[in-house]
Amino acid sequence: MSNIPWIEKYRPKTVDELLGSESIKELINGFIRRKDIPHLLFAGPPSTGKTTTALILARAFYNDKLSGNFLELNASDERGIDTIREKVKEFAKLLPDNEVGFKIVFLDEADALTTDAQQALRRMMELYSKYTRFILSCNYINRIIPPIQSRVAVIRFAPLPIDQIEKLVDRIIQTEKISITENAKRSLIEIAREDLRKIITILQSAHYASNGKIIDENLIEKISGKVGIERAKELLSLILAKKRTEARERMISLLEEGNDPEEIIQGLLRAIDLYPNMDETRRANLTRIISEYHYRITIGTNPYIQLVAMIIEMSYL
Ligand SMILES: Nc1ncnc2c1ncn2[C@@H]1O[C@H](COP(=O)(O)OP(=O)(O)OP(=O)(O)O)[C@@H](O)[C@H]1O
Ligand SMILES: [Mg+2]
Repeated sequence: MSNIPWIEKYRPKTVDELLGSESIKELINGFIRRKDIPHLLFAGPPSTGKTTTALILARAFYNDKLSGNFLELNASDERGIDTIREKVKEFAKLLPDNEVGFKIVFLDEADALTTDAQQALRRMMELYSKYTRFILSCNYINRIIPPIQSRVAVIRFAPLPIDQIEKLVDRIIQTEKISITENAKRSLIEIAREDLRKIITILQSAHYASNGKIIDENLIEKISGKVGIERAKELLSLILAKKRTEARERMISLLEEGNDPEEIIQGLLRAIDLYPNMDETRRANLTRIISEYHYRITIGTNPYIQLVAMIIEMSYL
């Protein structure tokens, strides 16, 4: 079992192990006590515990006998709603053979379904509701059609607070006996922001890549393919000091090293967040300029020209 991905190894298996919102935990414990759930919609950003919570419920109801009782489907699967319908039908056809009296269909990324597909899903939810509960998950609740929203209890998931993320990272570091510098740890958490899956995956890759040596910031940055925060901070300092030629050269070398424009922009945004004593207006104006150029890049204009123009404009603030 040594090469099991850490996101699975460290995925909480019980409500007690789940980090984050106490109110969600109370709600889930309530469902477990009553041995019943309504149709549910788990809404929130990636890796905030939606799939984990669905699995915790399933395990609480069915112990380890998930097969036949718990069906996990991915809505953004290219095979589309017809396959989903077939699979749900197939699954719901047999009466539940468990003591809670229902089965669970977990439909991940329900917001990736088209409106028509969601209408079909809504009919399925009605058709099979007697012996089947649906748990839907989505990143954006406004992409779920109102008739579905009104048939489910919505639970909103938010990213874990930074101190809980740090505790989890420390726990993994201890358990896996990882040597890592404080800076590398900070950089890991900064780079991946609040995305726990990313944090855990980068840490595991760094651990393998380090070959028993101490993991430092460079390794974390190399593995995550991100523009390191230190380099983004340096670039920002040049821009703010109006050293335009140097800033331009620095930007060009970042691009020439193969850094993605999106990553450079994300790095600059983080550097702005972390910049000491910057007044709010300046912060807002810098962010506004970045978002404008970011938009231009996403619609397909030359990123090289846009990024250089962006730092020049930022330097005139
Ligand atoms: N509340 C939490 N407590 C502890 N670990 C968590 C929590 N939420 C997420 N994790 C960790 O992050 C990983 C990803 O979580 P999960 O698969 O539940 O995310 P998700 O919300 O379903 O994301 P997505 O929208 O991308 O499907 C888990 O394997 C687990 O290691
Ligand atoms: Mg998920």
